[in-house]
Amino acid sequence: MEFKAIRGFSDILPPVTSRWRLLEERARQILEDYGFSEIRVPILEKAELFARGIGEETDIVEKEMYTFEDRSGDCFTMRPEATASVVRAYIEHKLYAADPMAKFYSIGPMFRHERPQKGRHRQFHQINAEVFGIANPIIDAEVMAIVMYYLSLVGAADCQLQINSVGCPRCRLPYQKDLRAFLSEHLPHLCADCRRRMEHNPLRVFDCKVQGCQEIIAKAPLMSDYLCQPCAEHFAALRLYLETLEIAYEVNPRMVRGLDYYTKTAFEVVAGGLGAQNAVAAGGRYDNLVAALGGPDIPGIGFAIGIERLLLISPGEPSPPGPLLFIAALGKGPQREAFRLSYKLNQAGVRTMIDYAGRSLKAQMRRADKFGARYVLIFGEDELSSGVVILRDMKEKRQEEIPLPSIFEEIVRRRGEGSP
Ligand code: HAM
Repeated sequence: MEFKAIRGFSDILPPVTSRWRLLEERARQILEDYGFSEIRVPILEKAELFARGIGEETDIVEKEMYTFEDRSGDCFTMRPEATASVVRAYIEHKLYAADPMAKFYSIGPMFRHERPQKGRHRQFHQINAEVFGIANPIIDAEVMAIVMYYLSLVGAADCQLQINSVGCPRCRLPYQKDLRAFLSEHLPHLCADCRRRMEHNPLRVFDCKVQGCQEIIAKAPLMSDYLCQPCAEHFAALRLYLETLEIAYEVNPRMVRGLDYYTKTAFEVVAGGLGAQNAVAAGGRYDNLVAALGGPDIPGIGFAIGIERLLLISPGEPSPPGPLLFIAALGKGPQREAFRLSYKLNQAGVRTMIDYAGRSLKAQMRRADKFGARYVLIFGEDELSSGVVILRDMKEKRQEEIPLPSIFEEIVRRRGEGSP
């Protein structure tokens, strides 16, 4: 039987792992500079957390969650996103007690049973950030600024910030009523999914990709015409703050997010190179979520960047530098000495590689070249007994003879020289 990874679950192989790590390191650096602390939440949570947090009638909760019973008969879900878990942790550990204002980030895998395609996986990874306790739209603009700065720093191409306000429960109610009335006028022309959505969660029709529905939706009433005064003012202030930072954006009045916890601000960053799954990052404000999950009345806002999608639109990083030294030893005694020396040099912070197979000098030189070693130390039984070895500079293409007892200091001295 041939084992293969499960559909939608991918291995992340070198050299992509180095690009991956760089993207993570840069995210950590920027987020920590902005005062975020790392939080790590479990992959499994009670299914109810996501049903209540994300919304019973969302696609994620209705059709995409990996929910199963464990051996004790308890029902768990593999997290489809991080926000609900971070909010749970914030409430459970009373992280608001000393000061409700807190900023957290986390990086890790999420799980959604969606149909796999380019940029859409069943296990995917997010850089996730959440801010609690700030109602001022300055923070809305700041989180968007962080996302856009990060994306430009990692060279993500052709990114566009789209913003919208999805209002609050107060102004959304009359809007939903009118939207439902509008949709029921076009009922015979709506797809089966939209007819169902119309009843429970009419805003979801904006995400329908069916041509006939799209034509109807183009004429549907918009949330922006229904915003109550506080929501309208919040949105106007957000735009002003984005303009203050000279961050380009587009208002997309038809953007609704696939998660029900959003209030007021919603945003997505779409990228030209991504195809159908074009959002590389997304987020928004969730002023009622902490209270809805049993905590105090504390506002929140956050975002998540999809790492797999980011990899599709950011340039490949140069492969990691090769070792400073490759030791090409010929014969059993020299191989033992090479083994000892490489151990000492690696401990001294000098990346050193050896050959394990006892290959010919030519074959070992080829390997040193393949790994991009800056220097190759060459010795056989004769050099070992005479105590003088050959050090070849692969960049300058010249070699010198060095007494074996001083080779350690000689190499350590050249530590800064790196690979060719
Ligand atoms: P989301 O829009 O569901 O939001 O996901 C955020 C990002 O995760 C997407 O823009 C995309 O880049 C990536 N993503 C989502 N699903 C997949 C998938 N199946 N395969 C690959 N990448 C995917 C959230 O998850 C919210 N929790 C974001 C948030 C944080 N809002 C407030 N705080």
